[in-house]
Amino acid sequence: MSSKQHETIYLEDYQPPAWLISHTELRFELEEEHTLVRAQLSVRANPAVADKRMPLELFGDEAMELCRLSIDGQILETCDYQRDAGCLRIQNVPEHFTLECVTRLLPHENTALEGLYKSDGMFCTQCEAEGFRRITFFPDRPDVMSVFRTTLVADKARYPVLLSNGNPVDNGEDGEGRHWVTWDDPWPKPSYLFALVAGDLALLEDNYTTLSGREVALRIYAERKDLDKLDYAMQSLKNAMRWDEGVYGREYDLDIYMIVAVDFFNMGAMENKGLNIFNTSCVLAHPKTTTDLGFQRVEGVVAHEYFHNWSGNRVTCRDWFQLSLKEGFTVFRDAEFSADMNSRTVKRIEDATLLRTAQFAEDGGPMAHPVRPESYMEISNFYTLTVYEKGAEVVRMLHTLLGSELFRKGSDLYFERHDGQAVTTDDFVAAMEAVSGRDLSQFKRWYSQAGTPLLTVSDQYDEHTGEYCLNVRQSCPPSPGQEHKQPYHMPLAMGLLAEDGAELYAGCLELTGEEQQFRFTDIASRPVPSLLRGFSAPVKLDYQYSDAQLLMLLRHDTDGFNRWDAGQRFCIRLLQEQMRRYRAGEPMQCPDVLISAWRELLTDASLEPAMVAQCLELPSEAQLSELAEQIDVTAIHAAREFMRAALATALEQEWLQAYQRCDTGAAYAADAASMGRRSLKNLALSYLMLTGCEPWLELARQQYEQSDNMTDQLAALSLVAHSGFRETGAELLQAFYQQWQHEALVMNQWLSVQASDPTPGALARVQALSTHPVFDARNPNKLRALIAGFCARNLFHFHAEDGSGYEWLADWILQLDRRNPQIAARLLTPLTRWKRYDTERAALMQAQLQRMMDTAELSADVYEVVSKSLM
Ligand code: TRP
Ligand code: ZN
Repeated sequence: MSSKQHETIYLEDYQPPAWLISHTELRFELEEEHTLVRAQLSVRANPAVADKRMPLELFGDEAMELCRLSIDGQILETCDYQRDAGCLRIQNVPEHFTLECVTRLLPHENTALEGLYKSDGMFCTQCEAEGFRRITFFPDRPDVMSVFRTTLVADKARYPVLLSNGNPVDNGEDGEGRHWVTWDDPWPKPSYLFALVAGDLALLEDNYTTLSGREVALRIYAERKDLDKLDYAMQSLKNAMRWDEGVYGREYDLDIYMIVAVDFFNMGAMENKGLNIFNTSCVLAHPKTTTDLGFQRVEGVVAHEYFHNWSGNRVTCRDWFQLSLKEGFTVFRDAEFSADMNSRTVKRIEDATLLRTAQFAEDGGPMAHPVRPESYMEISNFYTLTVYEKGAEVVRMLHTLLGSELFRKGSDLYFERHDGQAVTTDDFVAAMEAVSGRDLSQFKRWYSQAGTPLLTVSDQYDEHTGEYCLNVRQSCPPSPGQEHKQPYHMPLAMGLLAEDGAELYAGCLELTGEEQQFRFTDIASRPVPSLLRGFSAPVKLDYQYSDAQLLMLLRHDTDGFNRWDAGQRFCIRLLQEQMRRYRAGEPMQCPDVLISAWRELLTDASLEPAMVAQCLELPSEAQLSELAEQIDVTAIHAAREFMRAALATALEQEWLQAYQRCDTGAAYAADAASMGRRSLKNLALSYLMLTGCEPWLELARQQYEQSDNMTDQLAALSLVAHSGFRETGAELLQAFYQQWQHEALVMNQWLSVQASDPTPGALARVQALSTHPVFDARNPNKLRALIAGFCARNLFHFHAEDGSGYEWLADWILQLDRRNPQIAARLLTPLTRWKRYDTERAALMQAQLQRMMDTAELSADVYEVVSKSLM
């Protein structure tokens, strides 16, 4: 049974480390067939731990070869230590000593992309969360912080660039073609922030002067062919550095800041001290090859990793249960940065949509966990939307409750108190309590309780007294291991509008009780409440709005987010009604009120195009699924497609005018206004294409051929490729391939466009693509484009009635699990939601999960997700 080897780790079992490592000296001999690592650790007993007779326990991957082990120069024989299941134990060691350890690694065979591995011929590392134990034996836990000095030795011709954390302090050559560089990082850090890179890399260099006058060299490394795609990341980095000085008073603390782009990477990017390693998809940007979404991602991720230098590196996590301490806070920081650089409202809409579609689904599924989880089998499975995105919402609520001034005082105190320490989410909240004098103990339930709270709101208005009363009830459904939830403390931002749209009240209520009443006096006429403005808490809201009230809010709300939200609520209601009709065999309808409301938005040239595009985008199939009692993929798809087609025909002239208005002919620029125009233009084109009329196909083809940027080219490609014009679609896909086959990131888009093609035969198409030369099952970006792309953005076909989509995915997971468990476990997500579907589909999905469960030797990653899903 595979279950035995996968133990569960509990937060309540936390013990401080018995041994500390003040200094770590590493020497890497990088060679083609293997790498030798010599580690010298200055070990001393932790004075804070009473029992000094504890054995020294080091983590080390089972597959790692131990070549030599010594204490203060004395070689240890195999009988002097015990080695089992990822752990090395040495009894009776002195109070302080030097441990030397030599390990032999096989980076070129490392397909898990954790520890030391090769990406396109260059050496690189990924140590978070527990990758360092694949490099050497070490107390690989974030509360053991050490000063690292690292020497890299490699062939000079193949690996002219040798990088590690900190500053280069020495280098030389051996006269036989090999050279070496020594790096010294003065800041103590946990092992998960260690990094090295060795390769033949080009670089873009710039510099930055911090507020206090420190000169910092900024270096972004990539393959030579990508050198022209680094300017945007560099500008974003400088913007982020300036922003963190201004908004948080935080400066950079080394002489060099390096970013390296690698093509084989499990996640987006990694904040290693002074040496960030990035997935190429999160750093390379060029108008010709990168979409607007890609540009925004680069800006956001560059800032995110930079902000970690304080929220994560200078102040780090005590244990991995505290992951949201750094991730939630840092996502909040990068979201605010992006809001300041672009449109605040649009950024908020994007983030709320991500929460509502994906994080709420996670909260309602078998892997649901609190922002600070209580247990895990494999920590990699907890780099989730809950820890990142919901964690950021929790920090945002603190910001809302305290106000920005007190919040800044709180973050200052947090950084000052805990600089150089490994701490907990309680320490973060304690700093906020200290500066505000508030009791946040109830607020902390956001960290310990899983599930999405529901607010049920009702109201009464008394014409005679002018009193308006809001009743707010909160509840939270059970989640695994948590049957009953206590009420949360949360901000409820809101306003009251008169029927004509005039604002009568704007403010923020605080909820703490299960049921609360709020009274407003001197209200001249029955108001319409605008609730949960700006998505002030990550909750679901139930208030029985009339259609007229929603349309009034869509026109007049002073809160841009809630204007959009009112429109979305109205569309969701209409779509749900069409789903009902579809199932009942009744004809579906698109009501005139919707058409006229949309006409108004579409023709009002005074509105921001980005906002109009957000408002005119129907809620996705994924979001409609999340909202459904039981998910009916066919009805969701049919209702949404019906509505889109009806809106396309009814507003054809208006779509064309909007297209023409936004098609300014200006050269590409990556600013918010230009991106907004492109998003409305391409939305308009998508509706025009839905009419199925030849002239619009011509328009799309023209856009494809004449655009100077990937946003417009790819939008046109995907519209034609997904349309009924199959021949033209195939022709453009072929042309696109010819044009871009040597650009890996563009080829990911090419795969992804085809994976999400909703026309019949979808599974056969993705199956064929999985043997295409541009596809590479070892590369996570390719897997995400094709496999995750099909499962997440082609729901109708993934959930085919015969279960073929499920079986195909399970086949992939079993195959990938042997190669890259982290990716295999991530791709599993869609199958974990099986209980939300009709009995037939649920049974088919469950059968695939069971088939995986019955497989011998699942990784801990996949085992944890599969076993929890079947519970
Ligand atoms: N700390 C990284 C980030 O936010 C996340 C990360 C990068 C990661 N690579 C990883 C997590 C590999 C787990 C495994 O921004
Ligand atoms: Zn992060």
